[in-house]
Amino acid sequence: MIANSIKIADGVYWVGALDWDIRDYHGYKLDGTTYNCYLIFGNNKVALVDNVYPGFSSQLLARIKDAFEKENRDFKIDIVVQNHIEMDHVHSLYEIIKKFPDVEVYSSTRAVSGIKNLFPSLEDFEIKTVKTGDSLDLGGKSFTFVEATMLHWPDSMFSFLNEDGILFSNDAFGQHICLSERFDHEVSNDLLMRVSKKFFANLVTPSSQLLVKKLDEVNNLGVLDKIKMIAPSHGQIWTKPGDIVNAYKGWATGECKDKITFIYDTMHHSTQKMAHAMIEGVFSEGFEVKTFYLHPDERSEAVTDVLDSKAICLGSPTMMNNPFPSLGDIIFYFNCLSFNKTGINKKAVVFGSKGWGGGAVKKISNHLHESGFEIFEEYDVLNIPHEEELKKCFEIGKKLAQSLKD
Ligand code: FEO
Repeated sequence: MIANSIKIADGVYWVGALDWDIRDYHGYKLDGTTYNCYLIFGNNKVALVDNVYPGFSSQLLARIKDAFEKENRDFKIDIVVQNHIEMDHVHSLYEIIKKFPDVEVYSSTRAVSGIKNLFPSLEDFEIKTVKTGDSLDLGGKSFTFVEATMLHWPDSMFSFLNEDGILFSNDAFGQHICLSERFDHEVSNDLLMRVSKKFFANLVTPSSQLLVKKLDEVNNLGVLDKIKMIAPSHGQIWTKPGDIVNAYKGWATGECKDKITFIYDTMHHSTQKMAHAMIEGVFSEGFEVKTFYLHPDERSEAVTDVLDSKAICLGSPTMMNNPFPSLGDIIFYFNCLSFNKTGINKKAVVFGSKGWGGGAVKKISNHLHESGFEIFEEYDVLNIPHEEELKKCFEIGKKLAQSLKD
């Protein structure tokens, strides 16, 4: 196939793959993504940073070939820097090694067993390991490596291209988005921050405390001030890195708006009526509200708004003593994401209607408590919420918002 590379700095090219069609990535709803890889031409050596998802190696190789032609250099990759070994960034490594048998592969120590497990025929292939502060010279260009354990996998690392000030951050600072443009300044800031927030909420939240420490560590290495560009492995390249670094610092430390996110489902519209009454109570205190009615809406968008909300309100009817299945899905997802790792325990109201004995509200409440939410109120009603009960819903919403005012 024919596919062009894109020059992002002198001797540095984007050679990644565009996945226009992907709509679901391990439960994360998306409208396409990119698997970004970069080719760096040193005076002595050429390095490829990261690889692509199954099915995309021909696109990668076509862009690599194009970059070599533009640079008028012999078609030979000397080094692969493998920042992360999840399948969307490592799968084409095997083909690269087969095509360039003398290539040297550099990764974190923790990546080695994973690579050998994924590609058993590489059992005897030597992978060179690097640690934080190690460097690698390409001739006129050089990397400094920073291990980024649990950002977001044990093997993750960042690679910093010293002379050009480019941080290859792999998943961190990425976005699941697929556009014809490659840079931040070419797209609307609102769109870019929304997809970045969604990426953070769904993938980075559990590592919030580690992220804050890592930014300090990068700062102490003297790298943070030198970053002119952040080139992540998904989505747009940041030419104004301060925008996303500051946003990450805020999200990782629990910065929220005066905002409450409602997530609910309903069986015969009773729980829905309770939600709407509570929303009015929240509005009466001037708070922003975001709602997710989980029948048509889905979890990865909902948690994006939970990230910068001071509280959530979860509503579910009781079905056979349990929460509605749609709510069951998201409460387990809250267990995964651990929003309390951002340093704050968001408040939660749990509500719903029941036919006889109930059970959904208590079970959801227990789960949210386990996930680090502070339960502000539990409220369930029998069958249909009547006028007095809807009034109480309004009051719950109002008191919740009042309790969240600074
Ligand atoms: Fe984009 Fe952890 O993979």
